[in-house]
Amino acid sequence: MYDEAKEIMCRIACEWGGVPIKGEGVKERAEQLAVLFESPTALGPQHWKGRHARKQIEHWVVGLVNQVREGNLTPPEGTALREISLHKDLEGKYLEEKVAAVEVVNILRPIVAIAIYINFTALAIQHYPDQKEKLERAEPKYFQMFVQEVRRFYPFFPMAAAKVRKDFTWEGYSFKEGTLTLLDLYGTNHNTELWDNPDIFNPYRFSGWNKSPFDFIPQGGGDYMMGHRCA
Ligand code: HEM
Repeated sequence: MYDEAKEIMCRIACEWGGVPIKGEGVKERAEQLAVLFESPTALGPQHWKGRHARKQIEHWVVGLVNQVREGNLTPPEGTALREISLHKDLEGKYLEEKVAAVEVVNILRPIVAIAIYINFTALAIQHYPDQKEKLERAEPKYFQMFVQEVRRFYPFFPMAAAKVRKDFTWEGYSFKEGTLTLLDLYGTNHNTELWDNPDIFNPYRFSGWNKSPFDFIPQGGGDYMMGHRCA
């Protein structure tokens, strides 16, 4: 199911993003894009597989960016490939081709990553068969609650890593500039001080949920209006 979902999401991402792709190409690109989120912290062969896939994807998208700039490819207006390729800065200059390609990949890759949640959704139904019946008869509000609980419950990215920019102290802990820190996404979403019975799968906890967004961080930390890096 995961492989199928990756391919479907790749097709969707490319169509929505204005990126031409067809036939066998979809399978290959879906795999390359998936390697980027399947091996971000891997060591050894998996790490090299990730670097190789990144190179191949960037090479492909740099080619597309140049075709758009030369007028040989015209993706629909408003699509990521077109807008990013043709964007000019205040001096009237295009983005560097590699920067433009990385921006386009930053749109395609995470859409393909949604395949992981599609799988977790199916897994939740398999783990908790009573959910199947509920979903079959559910109102849209229940779907929303169910999806939020899937995001909270399963470990998509268990943690996010960052380096401390400036010395600071937080709750008595001292963070020195340059220190590698890990933000525990899974642990926060399962923290018993923040969630009642966090190890129980219970979509109803999201009925009227209006707690701090910093308690619920499957897509990373930061103020989601300003400093959050994930769309
Ligand atoms: C499938 C669900 C998703 C999950 C679990 C997820 C999770 C994350 C996480 C944990 C980060 C790192 C945040 C940090 O370092 O502070 C991130 C970054 C990011 N996400 Fe998502 N994300 C998802 C979907 C998406 C989608 C659909 C988009 C856009 C179409 C997107 C765009 C981005 C971008 C552009 C970044 C920043 C990348 C960078 O700075 O290199 N994400 N995401």
